Amino acid sequence: MAIDPQLFKQAMSQWASGVTIITTRLPDGEIKGMTASSFTSVSMNPYLILICVAKKLYTHEVLLHSDVFAVNILNSAQIEIAQIFAGMRPDITDRFAHVGYTTADTGAPILPDVSGWLDCRKYQTIDAGDHTIFIGEVVSAYGATDKAPLVYFNRQWGSFMPSSS
Ligand SMILES: Cc1cc2nc3c(=O)[nH]c(=O)nc-3n(C[C@H](O)[C@H](O)[C@H](O)COP(=O)(O)O)c2cc1C
Repeated sequence: MAIDPQLFKQAMSQWASGVTIITTRLPDGEIKGMTASSFTSVSMNPYLILICVAKKLYTHEVLLHSDVFAVNILNSAQIEIAQIFAGMRPDITDRFAHVGYTTADTGAPILPDVSGWLDCRKYQTIDAGDHTIFIGEVVSAYGATDKAPLVYFNRQWGSFMPSSS
């Protein structure tokens, strides 16, 4: 039985996720970044993570030709950055100039004040329907201890509220 696309989207909207910015750098120096919530830890030995990127996106094309990428984990004060890198602020044409960045060991951009980041070398690329799964081997990482995460749930931005029990 065929599933209605709206039903699939409604089901997935009930999955709360963190929000990341995937950044990458091509061998010629071009940098690119996009908002992504399809980020998962995969393996501890070796250290592997994955992201899923829609084939129709320009970022997908760049990732195919790049050897590296970084996952920037956003904190709850970084909604504007998430919107900029999701193409929701068309008035901002140069995403990186607006936000600023430093450069990780691999050359991938790291955004300021993020909750954490994982700098990766591309490990494996898996074809998956209208998306590609990019698996990265983590070569360096950072995690803050004092930041609340940005959360995306039911098509809304929010944060994490610890349970009292
Ligand atoms: C909260 C949120 C999460 C997203 N997660 C993903 C994702 O995991 N994979 C994906 O391909 N697009 C995702 N997107 C959509 C991309 O961010 C969006 O298409 C963006 O414009 C891609 O940049 P580009 O057009 O410059 O390539 C997400 C958007 C939002 C708002």
